[in-house]
Parts: sequence; C-alpha cells; structure tokens
Amino acid sequence: MLSREKSQSIFNRAMNVLTQGVSSNFRYSGPDNTPVLKRGKGARVWDADGNEFIDYRLGWGPIILGHADDRVNQAVAESIKNGITFAATTELEVEVAEKIVKMVPGMEKLRFTNTGTEATMHALRTARGYTNKEKFIKFEGQYHGAHDYVLFSTASSPISAMGPRTSPIPVQVGTGIPDKIRDYVYCLPFNDFDAVKQCVKDHHGEVAAMFVEPCLGNIVGIEPKDGFLAHLKTLCNEYNIVLVFDEVKTGFRLANGGAREAYGVIPDISTYAKSLGNGFPVAAFGGRAEVMDVIGGGSVTHAGTFGANGASMAATNAVLNILSESPVLENLAERGKRLKTGLDQILTDAGLPHQMAGHPNIQGFLITEKPVQEVRDLAHSNDAMYETIMGNMYDRGVWAESDPREPWFLCEAHSDEIIDETLNRFQDSVQAAVHS
Ligand SMILES: Cc1ncc(COP(=O)(O)O)c(C=O)c1O
Repeated sequence: MLSREKSQSIFNRAMNVLTQGVSSNFRYSGPDNTPVLKRGKGARVWDADGNEFIDYRLGWGPIILGHADDRVNQAVAESIKNGITFAATTELEVEVAEKIVKMVPGMEKLRFTNTGTEATMHALRTARGYTNKEKFIKFEGQYHGAHDYVLFSTASSPISAMGPRTSPIPVQVGTGIPDKIRDYVYCLPFNDFDAVKQCVKDHHGEVAAMFVEPCLGNIVGIEPKDGFLAHLKTLCNEYNIVLVFDEVKTGFRLANGGAREAYGVIPDISTYAKSLGNGFPVAAFGGRAEVMDVIGGGSVTHAGTFGANGASMAATNAVLNILSESPVLENLAERGKRLKTGLDQILTDAGLPHQMAGHPNIQGFLITEKPVQEVRDLAHSNDAMYETIMGNMYDRGVWAESDPREPWFLCEAHSDEIIDETLNRFQDSVQAAVHS
C-alpha cells in the first residue's frame, strides 16, 4: 500500500470547502481514496505524498506531449507578458485558426471556446440554427460534456435502464435536468447500422444533428466498424442532418487531422478541446463554412469572455507547431502499438479472456469473453478483475484509470523505456491478480 497521509490530510481540508472535495464529480473516488496530486513532468506525476506514477490518465486526455512541457510553457510565459483577455480578436488567434484549418481536412471555419462542453453546446445550437430543427441523435455510452441536452445515456448510465436495444430509452444522467429535455434526444447503439437508418427515417424532418464520438473515447476507445462513419455521413446528407464528430478526445491525438484523417470521413462540424492545448483550457468547434456562417448577431449565438484568450492561444500555437513539424502522433502510435501488443500477450499468457480496443494513441482492454462493439456489451465485462489489476499497477507506480471504460492515453513523453517499464509492472500486476 502506498502512503497517503499527506494526501488524506489535504483531502480532509478539501472536504470542508469544495463539494465532495473536488472540482468535478468524476474526480471523487470516496472519502478515503480520492487522490491529491502535486505535480507532473513528462509522462510521470507525483501525488502529495511524493509517490511517483507513470501516468496513462493524462488528465483524461489533454496531455499530448507530456506534463509541464517546456516548449509549451515557454510560449505561454512569453505570451502572457502582453496580457491575455481583450474582448477582441488578436493576431495570435487568427494564426492558430489558420493552422487548424490547414491541419484538419475539410475544416473551413471555426470558433474558439474554453471547454469541450462549450464546444458541443454551441455546435448543437449551430446545427439547430442551420437546419431549423430541434432534435438530435447521440450514441449510447458517449459523453459530450456537462450541458443538459447531452447528459443522457453516457458511459456511467446503468445499462439496465437503457431499455431494449431496438427501442432505447434515453437515460438522464443525475438530477437537475428538466425532464422535457429528454424529448429532444434519440439515443442509439453505436456501430448499429440499421438502428441509425431506422431512426432517421422514422423521424424525418425532426433531427437537426447527429453527434458521434468517432471512436468511443469514453468506452475503452472502441472503434467504429468499417463503413459505420461513412454510413452516418450518407444518412445525414440524405436527411439534411448536421453530422457532428465530437473530437474532444480524438482531435490532435489520433492524427494531426483527428478522426477525420484517421477514418477518412469528413463531417459537417467537429468539436475539439483536450489535446489542443496540452492541458491549457482551450476548445474549438468548426467545419463547413456554410453551416458555421449561421453564427452571428441576430442568428445563432456563440459567446464567451475567455474564448481565444492569450494563454490558451499561445499553448495551442506551440502544440500545433510541434505536431506539424515532426511526426509526433505517428511515433506515438508506434509505441502505442508496442504497448497494446505487450498487454495483449501478458493477458493471453495469464489465461485471461479479454478484448483489446482502441487506436494505439487512446486504447484500452476489457476482461471479457464476449466481443464488445458498444456500451451494452460491457454487461459481460469482468470489471472486478480489471480493477484488481489496476489496483496492483497503482501500487507499483503505474496509473491508468481503475474503471475499464476510461481508456489509456499516451503522450510524446511515453518513451520506449517507459513502455517497457509499464509492461514489466503489468506482468507482475496480472500475476498477482490471477493468484490472489
Ligand atoms: C468526447 C467528449 N466530449 C466533450 C467532453 C467535455 O469536455 P470538457 O470536460 O472540456 O467540458 C468530454 C470530456 O471528457 C469528452 O470526452
């Protein structure tokens, strides 16, 4: 067991002043287990007690280069000397937008926000404004942020409440969301070609947008079946629905052009956040100019005091320069493949039935005997065994989420040596779990 005396004492103070001691529900793991972090560098983090971990959580995705990356920090330090918030366009903001347009296939126009939630919220409003329709489709198990419209049937919703696969019930996440909002959403099983076709046919003329995480960044990184994203695009074209790729986790991670590039399908709009700023709060949404051009005074509202602030733009500028000047994500994918192959082999040797999932840069695995292609299939996952293995990893200084739904994220700083170290500790952790 690792020491947590200091972490616990800080967390006890946190409980007095922060609700549940955290600034996001998802960070709370109980009164005696919630981690308190002190610092990070590269692919490693240290908690308040000084315990060191190889980090595969990476802040749930934003760290694409490494924690406290000197190149990004320096760019931000330089830029903030000039002030950061002006309620006006800056040249740096234009430069960053030009880089995104150049890097992302089919990207014509965009707007900056600060969080993924704001990006998806505005993307939905834009789609509604463009089509003059109000409802939208999302897929079960996908998370699109914390605004009311999208908080249905996410990764944390009980599968038992989702109703039959053939007529899914949207499950509201928590309380505080007006019940009538349910009427605006259709939740469908991912990777089910027929279910989507049937839904758009049945609700022809009602659906403004189809939101999809191109690979399931909140469910082990499960990837789309061959042709699934193209199928969505065809249906959206046919039924005048705005196709929105939620690339908050996949953008600037799968490839420089994100899922559009990795899977070769170009949606109408995409949303970005996480990797854009290597941890600085920045997000964006954008795509076809014809759709984006409904934004403006008198039509669709997009606003935000801190949008495109100088600190975030400087961080994003540095990240985009680094990604476009060297094959960071391709190299990452090579190391990610090595990690995936190694984990797979160790699980096979231990006789544990499992399924590897995801793109090498955002991957995971499930302990399961049945194939998994969408969230409902998690009903067969042996979460207890996964949690035991991850508990053993944590004790050995490797930190991936103990919930198998959250994928392992890789960053530039995960060197070959770090991958080897991870695999050695994984071998020990699996053996300890199997023989416990
Ligand atoms: C796919 C996806 N969309 C949107 C969001 C919301 O982003 P944020 O937490 O920055 O509001 C998340 C957050 O994890 C996400 O994974």
